[in-house]
Amino acid sequence: MFDIKQYLAVRMDWVNQALFQALPPSTEHPVRLHEAMRYSLFIGGKRLRPILCMAAAEAVGGTEKAALPVGVALECLHTYSLIHDDLPAMDNDDLRRGQPTLHKVYGEANAILAGDSLLTLAFEILAQQPQGAKLSLELAKAAGSRGLAGGQFEDLAEEQQAQNHETLMRIHANKTGKLIRAACRMGGITAGANTGQLDALGQYGESVGLAFQIADDILNVTSTQEVLGKPVGSDAKREKMNYIACIGMELAQTEARRLVEQAIEQLDALPGDTQPLQALAHYVVERLT
Ligand code: IPE
Ligand code: IPE
Ligand code: MG
Ligand code: MG
Repeated sequence: MFDIKQYLAVRMDWVNQALFQALPPSTEHPVRLHEAMRYSLFIGGKRLRPILCMAAAEAVGGTEKAALPVGVALECLHTYSLIHDDLPAMDNDDLRRGQPTLHKVYGEANAILAGDSLLTLAFEILAQQPQGAKLSLELAKAAGSRGLAGGQFEDLAEEQQAQNHETLMRIHANKTGKLIRAACRMGGITAGANTGQLDALGQYGESVGLAFQIADDILNVTSTQEVLGKPVGSDAKREKMNYIACIGMELAQTEARRLVEQAIEQLDALPGDTQPLQALAHYVVERLT
């Protein structure tokens, strides 16, 4: 049987080592900014997007190692989005990855700048990869106003609004789904995947991304701060749009499982080893953190 725990642990190690090398050293000027960037990256994190990127490369016959630097870029961009998401002007959260949020430790202005620097570093890394232009285009589309930033905008604008399923799906797809979709497609690009294969990886990522965000909403209700490493119960407190408020716990769980099955169906036609992507799709909804 495929050992997902072991699989994740090994890759998390690769990603952490590569991230450590890719970040400016914390001894380099401006020291406090570089320290802040490293703080948010190394206090924790599952490294799901880099791991999906590597698994997607493998699923089309490429190598994980070739996709690793792209995974590093994805994690830098993801971490920027978390730093900004936690700011007082956005979710105003005090805990992330089991530690005080960056603005709590380094101040708001420094947190904004550390986020900006990680976002920029992501594209600096991609520019140095073979297929850099194609990879940058993919990430830029996923991160901008038609993707993550747009989703974040609507997520905040829709706080305390009526829980409308269609709007919620769009917000989740943009704020979370697009980056996960891009992670899968970008893994495929590093492996020279053709258009049909990239489409399949993209659809897999879209479904997994939505399932992932539904699981995030579920954990916000069912988990504890100690286990999750970030505040729980906050969606209900802020009357934030979320799946539980919208369709109820049972239907949310059913929907997440349906999306996992839908994701896995996309893998049939891929030429490489798709076992990791299958296991990752299940992990996304079964995870406890
Ligand atoms: C949290 O993402 C933010 C969402 C998009 C729901 P992760 O759950 O992947 O956070 P880390 O990287 O493991 O901290
Ligand atoms: C975070 O969404 C999504 C992004 C940062 C793009 P949430 O605000 O719902 O996630 P958590 O619960 O703070 O991780
Ligand atoms: Mg948020
Ligand atoms: Mg948040």
